[in-house]
Amino acid sequence: MVSLKTEIGSISLERPGIVASGIMDETGPSMVRMIESGAGAVVTKSVGLEPNAGHANPCFTEVSGGYVNAMGLPNPGIELFKEEMDVAVPKGKIVGSIYGAGPEDFSKLAGRMEDYGACAVELNLSCPHAKGYGMEVGTDPAMVKAIVSAVKSAVSIPVWAKLTPNTHILGDIGMAVQDAGGDAVVAINTLKAMVICPEIGRPLLSNKFGGLSGAAVKPVGVRAVYDLRTVLDIPIVGVGGIETWRDAAEYIMAGASAFQVGSAIGTVGTDVFARINDGLSSFMEEYGYSSIADMTGVAHD
Ligand code: SIN
Repeated sequence: MVSLKTEIGSISLERPGIVASGIMDETGPSMVRMIESGAGAVVTKSVGLEPNAGHANPCFTEVSGGYVNAMGLPNPGIELFKEEMDVAVPKGKIVGSIYGAGPEDFSKLAGRMEDYGACAVELNLSCPHAKGYGMEVGTDPAMVKAIVSAVKSAVSIPVWAKLTPNTHILGDIGMAVQDAGGDAVVAINTLKAMVICPEIGRPLLSNKFGGLSGAAVKPVGVRAVYDLRTVLDIPIVGVGGIETWRDAAEYIMAGASAFQVGSAIGTVGTDVFARINDGLSSFMEEYGYSSIADMTGVAHD
């Protein structure tokens, strides 16, 4: 009998697929819709201390194999976000994604997410195009350690750190999370990217740079999870370019205990979780894996 149940440390999920931060997770009703569509949990859009309008248009474009976005972390601010959490939390497991400039911001935000009923917080240490936030703080292992330690002291819910692939010291950053008591790492966020419009002879996005997501990034994400598994003991959540059960299986076999889906909610549809769950169950049945834990990291054996 095959089970899709999985554990990310102390968090138990009925299904291993989680909605990645940034898509169908800005409002309470959209988060509920995704839980009802087969996701095991939802990560919210990253929320900061103050309301933020984000970058001017154009801030999103389609490319071969995915999307390039520089939304600019638009969000209503942590106080107003309570309204969305009040709708979503009674219906399923909600992970609160937060961004800040340093330990103090992250600690305050994590405390509010805990008050709102989040089952965990995900620290955005990886947005590739936000001045003063994201990977600008998340590529310095000392800063990462300080942020994770501060958040761990501020809340009692699990603390996940979402890491950037835009670095050659991913293992050191993962170790900084683990040494600071972080409960899990999430890998990867988008790859820093640019699209130039030949007709206007300029970068297409108003912010010039953005982040590449979608099928094109999957091999980068799988490699990152594989590398992290070789150095870390804490659980890993894999994300980047997952569209099908095969993609999810790759991440699990590289070492992930669960996975997130983002862009494919747009390219495949909101039934992407139901399709992955069905395909994964059939594969596991046929190949003799009784649980996600059975499959996790087998590519290392
Ligand atoms: C954005 O809102 O600009 C994207 C967030 C991210 O890449 O983490």
